Amino acid sequence: MKQLYTGKTKDVYELEEGNLLLKFKDDVTGENGVFDPGANTVGLSIEGAGRAGLKLTQFFFEILKEKGIPTHYIAADIEEATMTVVPASVFGQGLEVICRYRAVGSFFRRYGKYAEDGQTLDAFVEVTLKDDERQDPPISKDALHMLGILTNDEYETLKTLTQQISQVVKDELAKKDIELYDIKLEFGRDANNQILLIDEISGGNMRAYKNGEYIEPLELEKMMLQ
Ligand SMILES: Nc1ncnc2c1ncn2[C@@H]1O[C@H](COP(=O)(O)OP(=O)(O)OP(=O)(O)O)[C@@H](O)[C@H]1O
Ligand SMILES: [Mg+2]
Repeated sequence: MKQLYTGKTKDVYELEEGNLLLKFKDDVTGENGVFDPGANTVGLSIEGAGRAGLKLTQFFFEILKEKGIPTHYIAADIEEATMTVVPASVFGQGLEVICRYRAVGSFFRRYGKYAEDGQTLDAFVEVTLKDDERQDPPISKDALHMLGILTNDEYETLKTLTQQISQVVKDELAKKDIELYDIKLEFGRDANNQILLIDEISGGNMRAYKNGEYIEPLELEKMMLQ
């Protein structure tokens, strides 16, 4: 198997039939040993984190499949901590699309002059560039269009899909009395230029709270799947 990419939390391999294999590692993002889904560095390694992230990813991608939402998901092997996916090309050098239900994290750091800490937001969508060197800057629809990263139509598609997918995740969490504060998604285009949800949906890319208390990724996996 040819390794195409070594990521912070996953490694990417090319399979013979042309699909990709994502290997979920036990590394999680954070700083100084503290987990932070928004961080751009590997902060710590937690035994079992890879498998837990994959289990939750499989759970959500199966639900999205039932709902007819296009994703890259083909199959998951929990023992091996691997997921087989459709290869996609990303927009520009990669985007993250964030959906926010509460003013926390970088949103509150940026807009704290106007927003209250933790105030509710109505599935607010924003896009950031995957650019570790520049700390993943937020980018507007106009800038995405001007820089040739997304057409305006594609932007609207991404926004709609992001709100649909985030609502699915929010509803699933709510069944366990867990509140979704925000979530970060990635998208790409398949060989037919169809826009797909790619990457993962796990505790590592969302903030989830129960009774006002933050739930760590591994804990979230347990609460959701056990
Ligand atoms: N279906 C797919 N097709 C192509 N690339 C994909 C697909 N699904 C996920 N990826 C990419 O595989 C990589 C997974 O590795 P990982 O999540 O560890 O990356 P990362 O360290 O977060 O780095 P990055 O900052 O690039 O996300 C990401 O770059 C992600 O964009
Ligand atoms: Mg990633």
